[in-house]
Amino acid sequence: MRKNIVAGNWKMNNDLAQTQELIADLKKQVSADPAATIIVAPTYTNLYPAFKALKDTPISVAAQNMHQNANGAFTGEISAAMLKSVGVETVILGHSERRAYFKESNELLAEKVNTALENDMTVIFCFGEELEDRKADKHFDLVQSQLKESLYHLSKESWKNIILAYEPVWAIGTGETASPEQAQEMHAFIRKSVADAYGSEIAEEVSILYGGSCKPGNAKEIFANKDVDGGLIGGASLKAEDFLAIVNSF
Ligand code: PGA
Repeated sequence: MRKNIVAGNWKMNNDLAQTQELIADLKKQVSADPAATIIVAPTYTNLYPAFKALKDTPISVAAQNMHQNANGAFTGEISAAMLKSVGVETVILGHSERRAYFKESNELLAEKVNTALENDMTVIFCFGEELEDRKADKHFDLVQSQLKESLYHLSKESWKNIILAYEPVWAIGTGETASPEQAQEMHAFIRKSVADAYGSEIAEEVSILYGGSCKPGNAKEIFANKDVDGGLIGGASLKAEDFLAIVNSF
């Protein structure tokens, strides 16, 4: 049975004290047996304090990015082994902000995915179309090539450590959400694409999250779709109450 997952991407928000405060709120409010697997992704500097504070809770910690090389002269970068050494087992790769502002290509992301998997990490792989792609009716092709170029070289075995996150770029941080129908249509397309590449067993097992202006007020109708297995939450993950209301939308 595939998992329902709600992940909070805190992006470049919250210093140490604010991170500790948010975590304290989450710990106070989270139920002992939540309706979904819960993951939060603080900034690099707050990963270790977050890991320590969340250790015996149902909430686990992910990084927002990672370098593809094992180590070496890559000033400012962080490796998979460094993340693992501070308790981080999951990494978000391919977020649209990384693609847009840091020019991360499908090819580079394939390398990062390989490195994460070689280090036994779980990858939350983000992808999705821009508004122009959708207007030009190219969104399915675009998503297909993102999947193919970054993931479809992987072995069948690797897929147990892959979580997909469809995030239409036009819905991220804009207040504009994909309608439940648009989300389901794309998620069904993604699952079929994985089934065509790897067979239906793997396609049925992979969790496909939706991201883009997901809030307590719309999460329930988005998550009710058969191929939507949760969400990757930006803005609304910065308040414990809102984030946990989204978790409780299953
Ligand atoms: P948002 O961000 O929920 O603020 O739209 C989603 C994301 O970037 O993962």
